[in-house]
Amino acid sequence: MRVLVTGGAGFIGSHFVKRLVRAGDEAVVLDKLTYSGNRANLEGVGAEFHAADICDPHAVEEAVQGCEAIVNFAAETHVDRSILGPADFIQTDVAGTQVLLDRARRADIRLVQVSTDEVYGDLEDGGRSREGDPLRPSSPYSASKAGGDLQVLAYVRTYGVDASITRGANTYGPNQYPEKLIPLFATNALEGEPLPLYGDGRQRREWLHVEDHCAAIELVLREGRPGEAYNVGGEERENLDVAARILELTGADEGLLRHVEDRPGHDRRYALDTAKLRALGWSAAAAFEEGLAATVEWYAENRAWWEPLRSGEYRAYYEQQYAHRLA
Ligand code: NAD
Ligand code: DAU
Repeated sequence: MRVLVTGGAGFIGSHFVKRLVRAGDEAVVLDKLTYSGNRANLEGVGAEFHAADICDPHAVEEAVQGCEAIVNFAAETHVDRSILGPADFIQTDVAGTQVLLDRARRADIRLVQVSTDEVYGDLEDGGRSREGDPLRPSSPYSASKAGGDLQVLAYVRTYGVDASITRGANTYGPNQYPEKLIPLFATNALEGEPLPLYGDGRQRREWLHVEDHCAAIELVLREGRPGEAYNVGGEERENLDVAARILELTGADEGLLRHVEDRPGHDRRYALDTAKLRALGWSAAAAFEEGLAATVEWYAENRAWWEPLRSGEYRAYYEQQYAHRLA
């Protein structure tokens, strides 16, 4: 299979590209190389690369030549950045998705939209989100991802496009840009810098190893039904426990943990019902304890990958997001 992987230079997309190539498939990558896109993630992989924006229909048309499917990872992905400025999120996650759907329609090829559990909103009172539940996004990021999902469903219904959606939980593993909870706290702990935990730290997330997430996306690409969404869940943990475990694994001082001003509109809990994906044959291979330990070890051993990222644009963002919280 020859597949166009948009956003393939990012965290999850680059693992997916490697997975396809390992399986003997051909991957064509289209990526705008925003702050989180990184050519180093694809070093030696042997995938055709197009440095371009998914919002550019001509670039997409050129890259998709000869492909049987598009898997769309391209997005603005960080909730905190979406709170600082939502415009890029609407542009890429909504308008960009529409450009890809249009191309899938015209080329008559399959599309998988990589979406998120955040589209369901939070579940403070227990229970698990199922694929048919109403979408109640809380942040500009999750609202833009929900917009992408709704476009996919509209294109299936209106034009008969062959498209499915995956809704994944919080994903962790090697090569994740160090702005989200696990890579931020791991790299800060390794540098002896404070770990800024929002609010009481009792928020809960499901943690999904990147390889398990990619296996699910591949399964949906090959066997998912048009117009259907598939939840990809993980192991539920409180943020406080994840932070404490990272301190243990790095051997950093417990005093580095700081409770700081909360994220506005912060969702307390996500949890997914994964029966639909399990019925296709998926189950997670990684246990969170081992997966987290291996991930922290990866960051400890691969400073050359992340140290250059924690300067320039990153520092400016970090100051804006955390300086007043940590003051
Ligand atoms: P990431 O930020 O590491 O990667 C995003 C990639 O998209 C980058 O390579 C970036 O350069 C590229 N990109 C951004 N805008 C683009 C544009 N306009 N045109 C082309 N390329 C563009 O993010 P990630 O964590 O790998 O997430 C990938 C996908 O998975 C996203 O759609 C995200 O919503 C979804 N997702 C992420 C998680 C998670 O926990 N990380 C969980 C569930 C779903
Ligand atoms: O649930 C899937 C989503 O997971 C993906 O769709 C998003 O792309 C991804 O960013 C992630 O969103 P979250 O907001 O859940 O992830 P983040 O790592 O930013 O935060 C996880 C939890 O940790 C959340 O409750 C906020 C908290 N947190 C995060 C950061 C960055 C802190 O307490 N301090 C921090 O500095």
